[in-house]
Amino acid sequence: MPEYYEVFGDFHGVLMDKLFTKYWEDVETFSARPDDLLVVTYPKSGSTWIGEIVDMIYKEGDVEKCKEDAIFNRIPYLECRNEDLINGIKQLKEKESPRIVKTHLPAKLLPASFWEKNCKIIYLCRNAKDVVVSYYYFFLIIKSYPNPKSFSEFVEKFMEGLQNDNMICLHLCLLISVPYGSWYDHVKSWWEKSKNSRVLFMFYEDMKEDIRREVVKLIEFLERDPLAELVDKIIQHTSFQEMKNNPCTNYSMLPETMIDLKVSPFMRKGEKTELEEPLPEALRERFEEHYQRHMKDCPVKFRAEL
Ligand code: PPS
Repeated sequence: MPEYYEVFGDFHGVLMDKLFTKYWEDVETFSARPDDLLVVTYPKSGSTWIGEIVDMIYKEGDVEKCKEDAIFNRIPYLECRNEDLINGIKQLKEKESPRIVKTHLPAKLLPASFWEKNCKIIYLCRNAKDVVVSYYYFFLIIKSYPNPKSFSEFVEKFMEGLQNDNMICLHLCLLISVPYGSWYDHVKSWWEKSKNSRVLFMFYEDMKEDIRREVVKLIEFLERDPLAELVDKIIQHTSFQEMKNNPCTNYSMLPETMIDLKVSPFMRKGEKTELEEPLPEALRERFEEHYQRHMKDCPVKFRAEL
């Protein structure tokens, strides 16, 4: 199993997979098209869920068309690169318009052409306590990722910047983080961008609370008709159970050399788990305090906080 520093590195102040940044010029110079739709999330925030919903909208509720290929081929992952195995940019270049593009990039790393072409963007945000649990399990199943060690250690990394006894020199500080960097910076950077009416800011928790309301919101953002029949089909096809059993959305079509779904399914629980793993009480309190401190002046409020 590789070491953390072998897999990830600092990239403009954000911890990134070195395989992704090796050919960054291709990402930076990516040419967006005006009718591209960009779906942005911090990792483990429901990208697959909202992606499948949007693809259903584009395919006018045609389930069979959505089942023609795996989601990672229908909605290429912009910055994803694994030598010759996966190349999000190449996939996108070969796609006909209108394209749906997936990314986890923080706003500051997004290729400029998405702004220049005034593309529509959907940002889906999920609360930090559930993201950190989902992310931990993701580390366990992605074969190229280092061992996340204990859940407590992972939570420390997620919180970022906390002192680590093993820290031997300053530049290793960035390794006390997770890929795509701080959840807080990510969410805040995209919240700022959502002042632009071409950027729709959504919440995973809102989708759990009332999926019909949120699907209608998406359809309207994409300037289509929210016909009851279409909405019903989308809700049915993109339910957690349906997507968990669908090989096109549960990532079972990825090669076993990349993902080990025997350790944990990709579609794990799909609900509020809030630091479900046993965490020492002191760390749980520190997480809460850290969260409150970082989000104090941020207008992003989850339903539970309202
Ligand atoms: S990734 O790998 O970063 O792109 O992952 P991402 O798709 O963003 O997030 C994975 C989590 O989203 C949950 N998920 C869903 N929840 C509810 N309903 C539906 N339909 C759905 N589809 C995916 C998935 O189960 C992961 O969350 P956890 O908490 O691990 O179950």
